[in-house]
Amino acid sequence: MPSVAESRKLVEIEATSLDEAGRGVGMSEEPSGPRTMHVPDLLPGERAEVAIDHQSPHKAEAWATIVRRLGEPSPARTSPACPAFGRCGGCAWQHLAYPGQLAEKRARVVRALAPVLGAGGVEAATAVAVAAVTPSPAELGYRHKGKYVAGWISGRLGLGAYAPRSHTLIDTAGCRVVAPLVDELRARACSAAAAAGLTPWVEKQRTGELRYVIVRATRDGRGLVVLVVRSIADETRVAAVARAIAGDPRVAGVLRMDNDRDDGALLDGAARVLAGDATVRDTVAGVAIELGAGEFAQVNPAQADAIYARVATLALEAWDATATRAADIYAGLGGITLALASARASVIAIERDPSAVAALSAAAAGAGLGDRVDARTGDAATLAHGGQLDVIVVNPPRKGLSTDVITALVASSARRVVYVSCGPESLARDLVLLRDGGFTIDTIEPFDLMPGTAQVETVVRLQR
Ligand SMILES: C[S@@+](CC[C@H](N)C(=O)[O-])C[C@H]1O[C@@H](n2cnc3c(N)ncnc32)[C@H](O)[C@@H]1O
Repeated sequence: MPSVAESRKLVEIEATSLDEAGRGVGMSEEPSGPRTMHVPDLLPGERAEVAIDHQSPHKAEAWATIVRRLGEPSPARTSPACPAFGRCGGCAWQHLAYPGQLAEKRARVVRALAPVLGAGGVEAATAVAVAAVTPSPAELGYRHKGKYVAGWISGRLGLGAYAPRSHTLIDTAGCRVVAPLVDELRARACSAAAAAGLTPWVEKQRTGELRYVIVRATRDGRGLVVLVVRSIADETRVAAVARAIAGDPRVAGVLRMDNDRDDGALLDGAARVLAGDATVRDTVAGVAIELGAGEFAQVNPAQADAIYARVATLALEAWDATATRAADIYAGLGGITLALASARASVIAIERDPSAVAALSAAAAGAGLGDRVDARTGDAATLAHGGQLDVIVVNPPRKGLSTDVITALVASSARRVVYVSCGPESLARDLVLLRDGGFTIDTIEPFDLMPGTAQVETVVRLQR
């Protein structure tokens, strides 16, 4: 038998950062030139001898596993909180203590923004630097929504998550990242489905009924559960599952959504109420709002509210808010709109999901903000018809702004833009274009919405 050293090439590596999957990243020194290495379970500052598993055919980049650790473990190494850590792939940074995570997140923003700021993370013209990352109020139990895949786990119906890059279902019972109610209702839905004889959908065999379960929990401890099933799912059995879930007095409603799609989409079509109500009352930016099955809502509501408040401050700073005309593009349920309107600005909200727009309009009316909020269903690019505006806030999905939206921002009357981004790389691309269009960056503040993960939210203010 050849030894590992004979069969696979060995190199020494020191990690200097973490990738999104929680692998240590460092440069190897090799006679053929340096390569970027990705190594599981190697934290920044740790060294190891690694064996190369896979080499990119296009770039000087490789993936490797540790053969022998060299030197001391990082003082920032910690025990992951979740029992499924390493298998579930959901929170791949849990083995790094929280201050280290925050430093890595800032470094990720600085690296991504290098095309805008240069390597040091400081804007040359204005000396604006990337601020320290604002920590999440809670490191664990912060996620108020869980999406679970149904499948067979050890011969029983289970609700969990796919392992990274596979369709192997991992049991996520005891996940510490979701609010306790979310995990409790996941467990209740799982045992109710098993007791009713509901079978999980098995893609390969194209058999079974239950595909996903979505659990939403409010801050005051109420829950909404959505059973996503194939349309052939037996009505009586699904109703029995709903009754059993609704037996928990904290459950506001249980819904059924039929989904026969083959593209992996979670939701498809309208939800039907099987028990209780179609929505559950929560608050966004301090305003009461009815949350339904499908609308996008930030999963960490406490930190989302902190971001909304900061965005409103940056948007209105030094201005008379009552005379300010603002727009909130990609508004979702309107956390930013409600924060701006509560500060007495007039706001046009644009969002393509009609149910989110309806929920926002009703929430604004209920809070006495109806005359300051004009919520419109439409594409972000319809901003071009927004009329006279002083400030525009954009909070697009990870892929960032379309060229139509960038063009509309540059052509608008707005003196300020506040860009809230969950994708540092697309943010960098868009900031270059906005700067070319006449804006100057004066604030860059990252926030941590998802402890334990590589995700980082960045708030950037630009002014003409
Ligand atoms: C990152 S979320 C932000 C939502 C909201 N600002 C918040 O904090 O909850 C992006 C939102 O943009 C919406 N969206 C995505 N593409 C859009 C488009 N082209 N036009 C309008 N809205 C869009 C999505 O439905 C989603 O609600």
